[in-house]
Amino acid sequence: MATLLYVKSSIFGDHGQSSVMAEQVIQRWQQANPNGNIVVRDLSVDTPPYLDGERLTAIMTAASDRTNEQQAVVDYADAIIDEVMTADAIVMGVPMYNFAIPAQLKSYFDYLARAGVTFQYTENGPVGLVNNKPVFLLFARGGQYQGTAADSQTPFLTTLFNFIGLTDIHHVYAEGLNMGDEVKQQALADAANRIATLPVA
Ligand SMILES: Cc1cc2nc3c(=O)[nH]c(=O)nc-3n(C[C@H](O)[C@H](O)[C@H](O)COP(=O)(O)O)c2cc1C
Repeated sequence: MATLLYVKSSIFGDHGQSSVMAEQVIQRWQQANPNGNIVVRDLSVDTPPYLDGERLTAIMTAASDRTNEQQAVVDYADAIIDEVMTADAIVMGVPMYNFAIPAQLKSYFDYLARAGVTFQYTENGPVGLVNNKPVFLLFARGGQYQGTAADSQTPFLTTLFNFIGLTDIHHVYAEGLNMGDEVKQQALADAANRIATLPVA
């Protein structure tokens, strides 16, 4: 059975514009995969705690030497990784908050990128260990920054996903959402048109 992983990070939950766009992608995926399984990782509800020294130590400690508390940390991190490893496609809402991805999403990536599991360094440089699969990114922004230096999100996500082996990335931008109703409605309509053309299978 095909599995779609939906990573939601809007602090407005299902009302966030990134979530609304993500739902449009999910609807298309469901039409193509009527018996498919959808896994939701809602980072505004289940917010990953910062990866601090204690948590990193837990992850680095051999399984046989871990305390129960350390094992709980590893179980949490493993679940994040397993969801990405086993998904056939990934849909991710990406709001822009203060010129960056949401802190919750950065925290999520700090658990997802794990040496020896999702990437490894070799003599020839880093190699991603996640099987390639489509990643659909739904960007929601109050202003308009696509293609400018203020868009820190796109290069960061491209680098991160490529690093772990995911190179089939599809971008949808809804920009200018705080620039008046006309601009907003046009941006959402353009995004919906783009979503309708995504290679969702
Ligand atoms: C705390 C906060 C910070 C924001 N910072 C920015 C920003 O730096 N640049 C921008 O274009 N929009 C900014 N916005 C507007 C959001 O990008 C916009 O509301 C977008 O719809 C957020 O996605 P969401 O609706 O999925 O949560 C900010 C909104 C909030 C709530």
